[in-house]
Amino acid sequence: MEFSHGLISAAYIISALLFIFSLSGLSKQETAETGNWYGIVGMAIALIATIADPRVSNIAVIIITMVIGALIGLRLAKKVEMTEMPELVAILHSFVGLAAVLVGFNSYFEMDHGTSIVLTAEQQMAVNIHLVEVFLGVFIGAVTFTGSVVAFAKLRGIINTSALMLPHRHKMNLAAGVVSLLLMVSFVQQGGYDSALYIMTAIALVFGWHLVASIGGADMPVVVSMLNSYSGWAAAAAGFMLNNDLLIVTGALVGSSGAILSYIMCKAMNRSFISVIAGGFGTDVVVDNDTDYGEHVETQADVVAEILAEAKSVIIAPGYGMAVAQAQYPVYEMTQELINKGVKVRFAIHPVAGRLPGHMNVLLAEAKVPYDIVLGMDEINEDFADTDVVLVIGANDTVNPAAAEDPTSPIAGMPVLEVWNAKQVVVFKRSMNTGYAGVQNPLFFKDNTQMLFGDAKESVEKIYKAL
Ligand code: TAP
Repeated sequence: MEFSHGLISAAYIISALLFIFSLSGLSKQETAETGNWYGIVGMAIALIATIADPRVSNIAVIIITMVIGALIGLRLAKKVEMTEMPELVAILHSFVGLAAVLVGFNSYFEMDHGTSIVLTAEQQMAVNIHLVEVFLGVFIGAVTFTGSVVAFAKLRGIINTSALMLPHRHKMNLAAGVVSLLLMVSFVQQGGYDSALYIMTAIALVFGWHLVASIGGADMPVVVSMLNSYSGWAAAAAGFMLNNDLLIVTGALVGSSGAILSYIMCKAMNRSFISVIAGGFGTDVVVDNDTDYGEHVETQADVVAEILAEAKSVIIAPGYGMAVAQAQYPVYEMTQELINKGVKVRFAIHPVAGRLPGHMNVLLAEAKVPYDIVLGMDEINEDFADTDVVLVIGANDTVNPAAAEDPTSPIAGMPVLEVWNAKQVVVFKRSMNTGYAGVQNPLFFKDNTQMLFGDAKESVEKIYKAL
């Protein structure tokens, strides 16, 4: 089955529109499912139209490859835990980067570069533009590839999540950019030559690795969305090389929405957007875990149940630990019980609680917690002072007062939930270990804080029974 050029263009326009509807649907919880369907249908149309392009040969190979890919994808998507989502996304970005590099090399070797035939000015311009596309596509692809592999390894805990601080790292990043630019100029001027492309690829691979390695754990959410943006630009570059309009449009959609998300997250975490995308510029802080914060006080589930039964207002601040323990269901039951007893219960959600944007909202919605008692940080931060009890369930960095009080902390300046202002705070966790950013939390040692050790789900179930 072969489509005419006009039919393919029409299919691509429909797909592009469906992708835009999809993005708009995904921006709200109520419309997210419809948004997903738009995306699925758009992608199906795009795939069929691409395979039916008369320029495509070897359809059997494409279909076999797609079936193998789809089987692997299905298995991964079914198996992946919500908490592992960011690492899956990171590794998928690396594939986009690698694809752009391969498309770039293929496109370069296929073209008649370095030919001695005299070209007209117009032809020369077209060749130059194509060479720039190849060069930029390979560069962005290679940076995205190694950057995403490092992000995956950090999120998975295969390599250390703290920032790698090589001496002169900003100068090295700058040098990599300048040398690549000079290579591109000479590559285009000479009508394309292999060694420039190879050297730039090597530089870009190391640059991507270094860029992400030098970003600290606390900034990882921004890195993942930034790599999302890079992968979009890599796809758009591949679209230019392949003369595929849909790939250009889709790449630009992903690229710009990823950039907007990164910007929003930077604002939420009070980080400079430029400093994060430039490889953690300005994060030269030392992690000091030797400070003596004093003694912490331990408590038991039945004691917490008594405190809760006497409280008038309770705020629950959930974090990554609630997701790991899958404690959202007993948390919902406990909340219902407290509401039935006349206690005012609300949830406080930090923008980067958990391991992906909206992680806590999704878990609480899954457990049927009503939306109207789930509030964002800005909506609830001032209410802690009038609250009797705060339950911090598996959260750590997002409730760390050091962010507000210690300018040398790696998370200094990041807005946090000011739970310590409440009359009493109970922290649910298994040990005194640090959170994702690897910094100790002075909250645990405050006079109004009690530690409830154990798996969050078991602890909440015990409290629910005692209530
Ligand atoms: P974290 O700071 O990571 O703290 C989670 C806490 O949960 C840990 O201290 C851990 O302590 C506890 N925990 C783990 N398993 C538990 C279990 N089964 N039962 C009870 N407690 C358990 O979490 P947070 O406060 O949600 O902060 C999120 C962090 O992740 C931030 O640093 C953020 O920058 C980063 N991050 C966020 C994202 C996005 S987009 N949200 C993406 C990547 C990274 P124990 O080990 O002692 O139990």
